[in-house]
Amino acid sequence: MMNDTFMQVTNPRYRPHFHVTASAGWINDPNGFVYFKGYYHIFYQYHPYSAEWGPMHWGHARSLDLVHWESLPIALTPEKPIAKNGIFSGSAIVKDDKLYLMYTGHHFGESGHDDDFYEDQNIAISEDGIHFKKYENNPVISMPPSDNTANFRDPKVWQQGDMYYVILGGQTKAEKVGRVLLYASKDLLNWTYEGAIAQADTADQEGYMWECPDIFSLEGQDVLLMSPQGIQPNHEKYLNLHQTGYMIGKLDVDTAQFERNAFVEIDHGHDFYASQTMLAPDGRRLMFGWMAMWESIMPEQADGWAGALTFPRELTIKDNHIYMNPVAELDQLRINGSKKAVPFTPNATEQLVLSEADSHEVQLQLKTDEDYTLKFMAENDAVLTLHYDHQANKLTIARSDRPDQRVGYVKSAAVMTLQLLIDRSSVEFFINDGETVFTERYYSEIHPNVVLDKINFADVQATTYELEKN
Ligand code: FRU
Repeated sequence: MMNDTFMQVTNPRYRPHFHVTASAGWINDPNGFVYFKGYYHIFYQYHPYSAEWGPMHWGHARSLDLVHWESLPIALTPEKPIAKNGIFSGSAIVKDDKLYLMYTGHHFGESGHDDDFYEDQNIAISEDGIHFKKYENNPVISMPPSDNTANFRDPKVWQQGDMYYVILGGQTKAEKVGRVLLYASKDLLNWTYEGAIAQADTADQEGYMWECPDIFSLEGQDVLLMSPQGIQPNHEKYLNLHQTGYMIGKLDVDTAQFERNAFVEIDHGHDFYASQTMLAPDGRRLMFGWMAMWESIMPEQADGWAGALTFPRELTIKDNHIYMNPVAELDQLRINGSKKAVPFTPNATEQLVLSEADSHEVQLQLKTDEDYTLKFMAENDAVLTLHYDHQANKLTIARSDRPDQRVGYVKSAAVMTLQLLIDRSSVEFFINDGETVFTERYYSEIHPNVVLDKINFADVQATTYELEKN
């Protein structure tokens, strides 16, 4: 029997203060990130009836400034019987002053097996950005091309000239590898299949299914961002169950081809997946990700909720590399007068950077001529550790609740900058102005102290801010 009452949070110990999350229940991917009638909107995969994944709804929040979010009623509810249907991921676009959502309908078959399903693509429309009406002639794309399996989801729609295009994540029937399908439309309601614009070389190297594809141009280069499932770990790469990353290339919508470079992971932490971008009115390319990973341990489930979105990020590109930084509006969360320079004693080996990390930002500047270790200490337990190996330019994240570490590299430079956004049970590390990013959850009943181990503190600089809890 399905429980039909909404979940309640029973314990706030891990609840974020300024990250988007649901009032209770389960969330995963960000969906429908868009700007409409003065507000940024973000939707998310949502199961309000338990803290586990279940029949997907679209939860909804909006913001005037990207940092203060107002929770809105559920935007999309699955068809009945809801146990057999789900509103899977998708995107949003504004047309004729109306907000269009394009989403995947996920339909389980009679057998009850997880792999007995089909997927189609649908539209819902809103005039006020709060109430949505499903289009009466749904689905607008009823089935995948004949050489594709039933994995056919996560539409990302955009306008180019007087045409609309959508890409979808797919899987070839023959080789069972991930790929991206392109459709075109004049009105968002009638779609024609244009072809598969890109495809994985092999399932092991590039994934058996490409989820949540997104395509956009960044300073003249086209970028395909997506979340391939099942790339096999390779030395220090692809260590999460599934990956999120990008391929830089050139999209030609007329020939339905994306000429591309190799796949590169975009975030090196344990907890990042299924990202989605939007073009802000001021031209910035902004992104949200799901701040978790399938099958991760999520201790907050015991408290009636699971999952949050990352802090919104701005993407930029330099030398074929994508940089991610928190949006500049972060400044509005910094509490006036809370800025503190951390004093360091030159000859100490261990120094407290921030006590009782809860809702904080830490900015550090360190010379890279020796190793350092940054630890989140809950009494004697280092719940989270970032270690820098200066000879290899290598950063490693370890967590006390997981055996598996995560690794990222930085280009060699004399000085390294770190920006940490800490929010009760998460921390996002932006290193060297977004060159390398780690997104991490951590679980501690007490607010941990952030401690730096180093040999020479003479030239370390650190500043902390308290961030608004909203
Ligand atoms: C990615 C994903 C999507 C799907 C959604 C279902 O995390 O698997 O492909 O639409 O989650 O919740």
